[in-house]
Amino acid sequence: MKIVLTYGTFDVLHYGHINLLKRAKKLGDYLVVGLSTDEFNKIKNKKALYNFEQRKLMLESIKYVDKVIPEENWEQKIDDVKKFNVDIFVMGDDWSGKFDYLSKYCKVVYLDRTPNISSTKVREILKSR
Ligand code: CTP
Repeated sequence: MKIVLTYGTFDVLHYGHINLLKRAKKLGDYLVVGLSTDEFNKIKNKKALYNFEQRKLMLESIKYVDKVIPEENWEQKIDDVKKFNVDIFVMGDDWSGKFDYLSKYCKVVYLDRTPNISSTKVREILKSR
Protein backbone atom coordinates (compact mmCIF):
# COMPACT_ATOMS: atom_id res chain seq x y z
CA MET A 1 0.00 0.00 0.00
CA LYS A 2 1.40 3.40 -1.03
CA ILE A 3 1.00 6.11 1.59
CA VAL A 4 0.76 9.77 0.52
CA LEU A 5 1.17 12.74 2.86
CA THR A 6 0.31 16.41 2.40
CA TYR A 7 -0.13 19.47 4.64
CA GLY A 8 -2.18 22.64 4.66
CA THR A 9 -4.70 24.91 6.34
CA PHE A 10 -7.62 24.08 4.03
CA ASP A 11 -9.77 27.00 5.23
CA VAL A 12 -13.05 27.75 3.41
CA LEU A 13 -12.59 24.61 1.39
CA HIS A 14 -12.58 25.30 -2.37
CA TYR A 15 -12.14 23.46 -5.66
CA GLY A 16 -8.37 24.17 -5.67
CA HIS A 17 -8.09 22.12 -2.47
CA ILE A 18 -10.23 19.31 -3.89
CA ASN A 19 -8.12 19.22 -7.07
CA LEU A 20 -4.98 18.94 -4.96
CA LEU A 21 -6.40 16.19 -2.72
CA LYS A 22 -7.79 14.24 -5.68
CA ARG A 23 -4.43 14.24 -7.48
CA ALA A 24 -2.54 13.49 -4.28
CA LYS A 25 -4.70 10.44 -3.59
CA LYS A 26 -4.21 9.21 -7.17
CA LEU A 27 -0.47 8.98 -6.53
CA GLY A 28 -1.04 6.21 -3.98
CA ASP A 29 -3.59 4.26 -1.95
CA TYR A 30 -3.93 6.08 1.37
CA LEU A 31 -3.88 9.85 1.87
CA VAL A 32 -2.83 11.43 5.17
CA VAL A 33 -3.44 15.18 5.53
CA GLY A 34 -1.53 17.22 8.10
CA LEU A 35 -3.99 19.97 8.98
CA SER A 36 -2.55 23.17 10.43
CA THR A 37 -3.77 23.80 13.97
CA ASP A 38 -5.09 27.22 14.94
CA GLU A 39 -1.90 27.82 16.95
CA PHE A 40 0.31 26.91 13.99
CA ASN A 41 -1.74 29.19 11.71
CA LYS A 42 -0.89 32.05 14.06
CA ILE A 43 2.81 31.26 13.66
CA LYS A 44 2.33 31.24 9.87
CA ASN A 45 0.40 34.55 10.06
CA LYS A 46 -2.66 32.83 8.59
CA LYS A 47 -6.11 33.78 9.86
CA ALA A 48 -8.63 31.07 9.08
CA LEU A 49 -12.39 31.60 9.11
CA TYR A 50 -12.99 28.06 10.40
CA ASN A 51 -11.27 26.59 13.44
CA PHE A 52 -9.27 23.35 13.47
CA GLU A 53 -12.19 21.08 14.42
CA GLN A 54 -14.44 22.60 11.73
CA ARG A 55 -11.74 22.30 9.06
CA LYS A 56 -10.99 18.73 10.19
CA LEU A 57 -14.66 17.75 9.97
CA MET A 58 -14.84 18.97 6.37
CA LEU A 59 -11.56 17.36 5.31
CA GLU A 60 -12.58 14.02 6.82
CA SER A 61 -15.76 14.12 4.76
CA ILE A 62 -13.82 14.15 1.49
CA LYS A 63 -13.60 10.77 -0.19
CA TYR A 64 -9.92 11.22 -1.13
CA VAL A 65 -8.85 11.81 2.48
CA ASP A 66 -8.17 8.77 4.67
CA LYS A 67 -6.69 10.36 7.77
CA VAL A 68 -6.28 13.85 9.21
CA ILE A 69 -3.46 14.58 11.66
CA PRO A 70 -2.59 17.92 13.30
CA GLU A 71 0.24 19.99 11.82
CA GLU A 72 1.68 21.83 14.80
CA ASN A 73 5.09 23.04 13.66
CA TRP A 74 7.52 23.18 10.71
CA GLU A 75 9.76 20.46 12.14
CA GLN A 76 7.39 17.49 12.41
CA LYS A 77 7.50 16.38 8.78
CA ILE A 78 10.40 13.94 9.01
CA ASP A 79 8.83 12.30 12.08
CA ASP A 80 5.44 12.06 10.33
CA VAL A 81 7.01 10.53 7.21
CA LYS A 82 8.67 7.88 9.38
CA LYS A 83 5.65 7.31 11.66
CA PHE A 84 3.19 6.78 8.80
CA ASN A 85 5.66 4.99 6.48
CA VAL A 86 5.04 7.63 3.86
CA ASP A 87 6.02 6.83 0.27
CA ILE A 88 5.14 10.15 -1.35
CA PHE A 89 5.09 13.65 0.07
CA VAL A 90 2.92 16.05 -1.95
CA MET A 91 2.43 19.82 -1.93
CA GLY A 92 1.16 22.44 -4.36
CA ASP A 93 3.87 24.10 -6.41
CA ASP A 94 3.67 27.31 -4.39
CA TRP A 95 5.97 25.26 -2.12
CA SER A 96 8.30 24.11 -4.91
CA GLY A 97 11.73 23.16 -3.60
CA LYS A 98 10.88 23.98 0.03
CA PHE A 99 10.58 20.37 1.14
CA ASP A 100 13.23 18.73 -1.03
CA TYR A 101 15.06 17.72 2.16
CA LEU A 102 12.36 15.06 2.63
CA SER A 103 13.53 13.23 -0.50
CA LYS A 104 16.03 11.48 1.78
CA TYR A 105 13.03 9.66 3.29
CA CYS A 106 10.38 9.49 0.53
CA LYS A 107 9.47 10.74 -2.93
CA VAL A 108 8.68 14.48 -3.02
CA VAL A 109 6.14 15.75 -5.55
CA TYR A 110 4.92 19.31 -6.20
CA LEU A 111 1.61 19.53 -8.05
CA ASP A 112 0.49 22.52 -10.13
CA ARG A 113 -1.75 24.85 -8.17
CA THR A 114 -5.23 25.41 -9.54
CA PRO A 115 -5.18 28.95 -10.95
CA ASN A 116 -7.21 31.89 -9.63
CA ILE A 117 -8.53 30.41 -6.40
CA SER A 118 -7.33 30.49 -2.81
CA SER A 119 -8.85 30.66 0.69
CA THR A 120 -7.65 34.27 0.90
CA LYS A 121 -9.45 35.12 -2.34
CA VAL A 122 -12.71 33.45 -1.21
CA ARG A 123 -12.62 35.32 2.12
CA GLU A 124 -11.95 38.62 0.29
CA ILE A 125 -14.77 38.09 -2.20
CA LEU A 126 -17.21 37.31 0.64
CA LYS A 127 -16.08 40.40 2.56
CA SER A 128 -16.60 42.69 -0.43
CA ARG A 129 -20.19 41.59 -1.03
N1 CTP B 1 -3.71 24.56 -3.42
C1 CTP B 1 -3.79 24.32 -4.80
N2 CTP B 1 -4.45 25.21 -5.62
C2 CTP B 1 -5.02 26.32 -5.09
C3 CTP B 1 -4.97 26.56 -3.69
C4 CTP B 1 -4.30 25.66 -2.89
O1 CTP B 1 -3.27 23.32 -5.29
N3 CTP B 1 -5.62 27.16 -5.90
C5 CTP B 1 -2.98 23.62 -2.58
C6 CTP B 1 -1.77 24.28 -1.92
O2 CTP B 1 -0.69 24.33 -2.83
C7 CTP B 1 -1.52 23.34 -0.76
C8 CTP B 1 -2.96 22.90 -0.37
O3 CTP B 1 -3.78 23.21 -1.51
O4 CTP B 1 -0.78 22.21 -1.18
C9 CTP B 1 -3.47 23.62 0.87
O5 CTP B 1 -3.30 24.99 0.63
P1 CTP B 1 -3.77 26.14 1.62
O6 CTP B 1 -2.62 27.03 1.90
O7 CTP B 1 -4.53 25.60 2.74
O8 CTP B 1 -4.82 26.90 0.63
P2 CTP B 1 -4.80 28.32 -0.05
O9 CTP B 1 -6.10 28.44 -0.77
O10 CTP B 1 -3.56 28.52 -0.86
O11 CTP B 1 -4.82 29.29 1.23
P3 CTP B 1 -4.27 30.77 1.46
O12 CTP B 1 -5.09 31.71 0.64
O13 CTP B 1 -4.45 30.99 2.93
O14 CTP B 1 -2.81 30.78 1.05
